[in-house]
Amino acid sequence: MTNETNRSRRLARKIVAWYREKRRTLPWRETRDPYAIWISEVMLQQTQVDTVIPYYQRFLKAFPNVFALARAPLPGVLKAWENLGYYSRARHLHAAAQMIVDQFGGRIPDTVDELRRLPGVGPYTAGAVASIAYNRAVPAVDGNVKRVLCRLFAVDTPLDDKATLARLNDIAKAMIPAKGPGDFNSALMDLGATVCRPRAPRCCDCPVANDCLAGKAGRADDLPVKSRRGKTPHRFAAAVVLRDGQDRLLLTQRLPDGLLASFWKLPGGIPSPQPPSKADLASKIKKELGLNIRVGEKIASVDHAYTHFRLTLAAYSAALISGKPQALDCQAFRFVAPGDLPKLPLSKIDRMILAAATADRAEKKGR
Ligand code: ADE
Repeated sequence: MTNETNRSRRLARKIVAWYREKRRTLPWRETRDPYAIWISEVMLQQTQVDTVIPYYQRFLKAFPNVFALARAPLPGVLKAWENLGYYSRARHLHAAAQMIVDQFGGRIPDTVDELRRLPGVGPYTAGAVASIAYNRAVPAVDGNVKRVLCRLFAVDTPLDDKATLARLNDIAKAMIPAKGPGDFNSALMDLGATVCRPRAPRCCDCPVANDCLAGKAGRADDLPVKSRRGKTPHRFAAAVVLRDGQDRLLLTQRLPDGLLASFWKLPGGIPSPQPPSKADLASKIKKELGLNIRVGEKIASVDHAYTHFRLTLAAYSAALISGKPQALDCQAFRFVAPGDLPKLPLSKIDRMILAAATADRAEKKGR
């Protein structure tokens, strides 16, 4: 056995021993049900553990097994997902549930290859489900795990290089024990989330601090090297607040494909690299609804961080000059009383801007 293999196994043993003592108590760790484990891993793809817990519990109550999810109408599934973000995950889960019922007789697949055939299941999720639910000795390398491995093995090439990912996968494969691979993968996740944190890692609490190449060289804070490219880009969008005579807000429904398909929003709002001018916004409204409007003052502005970009969305007051709304570049439009907003599917940032814009109105009325 080479020194490297010896070291990998020693690290794995220590990390698993630490996990058995310190593991976080999480609801998806109280079950062996592959369906529940799959749901948890999809929710955890882009969302933090604390946010996921109540969604996971409510989702399993509403859709307790793959048959219930497969036969549920999609709008109900999207509603259960509301504000968790990245709604394509919910659409994919729903489509995957139907595929599992039709093609796998209702049994969640137990190999990485079969899991990868499901919509919304990438290499990480397939590895996590196969190892945690079915004890397959396969790696599950997510962002936390990449960071831990880069530090333990002083990998200092950029994370967005294919060669770096291949190296991290090889490292994980060499470490993974034949017995308890799910615990090993969960242990790396917990180590990354609670000790080997992105900034200010708590090396004094780490079970493998004296075997960590980056830690020993005083470089833990410098690794991993994120990317050759710069920071995530910043995008800007603008929308208008138009009301009818009963103080209801004009909303439009997004087109049936693409990001946030069929969700509702304020008219306007295409993200672009520069903040749109009032003239840009007016011509967007003409294109979307066939209305001629005058764009007034900025009422509110909110920020939201997506994985690949940061979005600042501004809402402007607007006055109608001429025209009747028509659904030209949207699926539908509707005037909605503020009290009815909670019933509509809206993305987090759209809900935030509506809250900010209607708070402004309530304040002005109160004056
Ligand atoms: N992040 C992704 N998968 C996870 C899991 N199973 N437990 C805790 N955090 C996670």
